Amino acid sequence: MKYGSFDDKNREYVITQPDTPLPWINYLGCQAYFGIISNTAGGYSFYRDARLRRLTRYRYNNVPFDFGGRYVYLRDDESKEFWSPSWQPTRHDLKDYSCRHGMGYTTIGSEYAGIEAHTRYFVPLDENLEIWQLTITNKRAVKASISAFSSIEFCLWDAQDDATNFQRNFNTGQVEVEYGVIYHKTEYRERRNHFAYFACSEPLAGFDTQREAFLGRYRGWDSPAAVEAGQLTNSIAHGWSPIGAHQVKLELAPGETKQIVFLLGYHENPVAEKFDPPGTQTINKKTVKPVIAKYLDPKAADAAFEQLRQYWESLLGVFQVATPDVHTNRMVNIWNAYQCMATFNMSRSASFYESGIGRGLGFRDSNQDLLGFVHMAPARARERILDLAATQLPTGGAYHQYQPLTKRGNNDIGGGFNDDPHWLIIGVSAYLKETGDWSILDEPVQYDNEPGSEQPLYEHMQRSFNYTLSRLGPHGLPLIGRADWNDCLNLNCFSDTPGQSFQTTTNKEGKVAESVFIAGLFVHAGRELAAIASRRSLSAEAASYLAEADKMVSVILEHGWDGEWFLRAYNDFGGKIGSKECAEGKIFIESNGYCTLAGIGLEDGKAASALAAVGEHLATKHGIVVQQPAYTHYYIEMGEISSYPPGYKENAGVFCHVNPWIMIGEARLGHGDLAHDYYSRINPSAREAISDLHRCEPYVYAQMIAGKDAPTFGEAKNSWLTGTAAWNYYAIVQWILGVRTTLDGLEIAPVIPKNWPGFTATRVFRGVTYKISIERQGEGNAISLIVDGAPIEGNVVTPPTDGRKEVTIKGILT
Ligand code: BGC
Ligand code: NOJ
Repeated sequence: MKYGSFDDKNREYVITQPDTPLPWINYLGCQAYFGIISNTAGGYSFYRDARLRRLTRYRYNNVPFDFGGRYVYLRDDESKEFWSPSWQPTRHDLKDYSCRHGMGYTTIGSEYAGIEAHTRYFVPLDENLEIWQLTITNKRAVKASISAFSSIEFCLWDAQDDATNFQRNFNTGQVEVEYGVIYHKTEYRERRNHFAYFACSEPLAGFDTQREAFLGRYRGWDSPAAVEAGQLTNSIAHGWSPIGAHQVKLELAPGETKQIVFLLGYHENPVAEKFDPPGTQTINKKTVKPVIAKYLDPKAADAAFEQLRQYWESLLGVFQVATPDVHTNRMVNIWNAYQCMATFNMSRSASFYESGIGRGLGFRDSNQDLLGFVHMAPARARERILDLAATQLPTGGAYHQYQPLTKRGNNDIGGGFNDDPHWLIIGVSAYLKETGDWSILDEPVQYDNEPGSEQPLYEHMQRSFNYTLSRLGPHGLPLIGRADWNDCLNLNCFSDTPGQSFQTTTNKEGKVAESVFIAGLFVHAGRELAAIASRRSLSAEAASYLAEADKMVSVILEHGWDGEWFLRAYNDFGGKIGSKECAEGKIFIESNGYCTLAGIGLEDGKAASALAAVGEHLATKHGIVVQQPAYTHYYIEMGEISSYPPGYKENAGVFCHVNPWIMIGEARLGHGDLAHDYYSRINPSAREAISDLHRCEPYVYAQMIAGKDAPTFGEAKNSWLTGTAAWNYYAIVQWILGVRTTLDGLEIAPVIPKNWPGFTATRVFRGVTYKISIERQGEGNAISLIVDGAPIEGNVVTPPTDGRKEVTIKGILT
């Protein structure tokens, strides 16, 4: 069953039934001010960092779920009935409910008792505020007297502290209300120089800032006492829980429409100018007032919305494709690209599943996210690469995460995940291929954010590579450290204490356990680095990277090959993981995916054998699972992977992040049908029809779909913030459609299904618009290219040297 449908023309997903299996969310904001918003207006907002600068409060894992948000209530002042047009929190039986999730905005509304109301929520570009445009229409034959209420609950900034430190927090809350604008200024009196504000475009009939005054005792957001009474109380919060609520009274003639604009924003003052007049405790509002005044004007709000629309138009315009498959088109052209932007902005910090307090930006994650994002905003990718590299440790290793607000490595999480450093090479390489901006390699970048430790970015990449060379195990394979890509393969952890973190607890020294996955990654990274070095005329250095990569290939073939597929690892006792000799966990996706993606075993049939084994043992109708057989009990020498019940997460769930490695491997083998088939199995749009099973949003990927060992086989969890977004985008665009960036130009190498007659695409690449059309004339993958009417040698189109801004590429597949 479906809960809505795609509106591709408007780039929206339109939800028409409010009680979706899970809250189906969207993101507001794309630069510094962000929010998550569900299809029933649940969610919260923050400035830059979902933990340290949380504007509004949200209670995760609540019942009923998804409570707390950007709620609007309407009250018929004659009948005294009240409801919310977004369904939650009052959950009335609404007419024509719809939630349109679009690119950076969400519009939710409905009709009830002859009153139609829709709220459009979005964050204007370059501003630290969100706009709610509430449009109300009286569809009755008679005039209507309506009170409209807004409401939010403020968070006392640090979301972790806010949820735990009540002995202090119940005393600190402070607000100011001036000309109807509610200013939330908790801790502004002391060490903070920032505050939030909540404003309304219309004259107020009342406001509230004290939660209890608004809700009443023992009542929730579904039945606020002051809304029920039809009169807010003008309460001023002292401690407890500051909120913001406005009341506007409207008289609507039959057919009449009115619009109210609400603004929720974040503002900083220079420390020396916090108060006005100086010496008082009153917020200096000189610089915030013009911003508020500007956007309370509906015309300015509309103009800002139009700018946001154009911004997305141009971002998505960098690559657009028309294939015979609607799901491919929709995901590539709209939603997958959009999700890549969300993962770039959020890493794994704030979603319906990531609480915003648990995790910062992952080193591994953010580097991989670049693969799906770099073409849309290369300047931001550049900045991200330099920020990431600055958290790298002098050893070449990396903090596993850093906090976006401070941009410093997170000591609590630590490091020692031995795959981490290589992702920097992969990320930089993707950036160079996209932009050709070689200057980034010479940027001085600190180690561990230590002033004085600056070295060129290129040196960071060298240290990344060497990190592994100085950490090889008994077979010559890379030592795994805390874990590799699979955070849950904790071979040095040996944890027997409940609640102990597998990720951070003290590990054994770890001189034995090795990872075949890191070996494959090392080969890939080494070859990328060699290609970069040789273009910098460092031919001896390039040769040495290639030699190390080749050496590693030999080690993999000798010690990492199990006869039919690649082994996964060696454990702390030197025993095999991911081998036919194992009772459980005989075959894993990661080493087979990454080794074939890296091109290992392409010539001698090993890649084909490994992928055939993956197809036989791991592929299911809902995607490819991590390993088989699933671990049926906890193995202390394996760690977290065996902590999950069979079929979930890393224990044989379908980890959608790694499925594309197999797709790429299959594409490298020339198997277009299978590559696209694997792509389609986890494509959320293609799964829309089974929304009751899949449960997560049909417009974005989820991290995991329960595997075949799980009672809920096919059920997705943890949507939005996952490397799945970037990798699927990269696999379909660069390897299946084969529109691939290289250091030298745009390579065209489609490996598409046999029954596709071809496809067309537009790609803006290094300032030139390429109009690409691919025509299938035979069943194979051999391609010949005609560029601006002239056949070329090979399949890499180099940037024009004569200033042409548009180039046509015709590709014939035979
Ligand atoms: C999850 C992993 C995740 C890790 C992050 C584990 O519990 O299973 O998917 O990467 O936590 O800390
Ligand atoms: C999620 C993490 O964010 C990612 O870095 C990791 O590779 C996967 N889980 C697999 O454990």
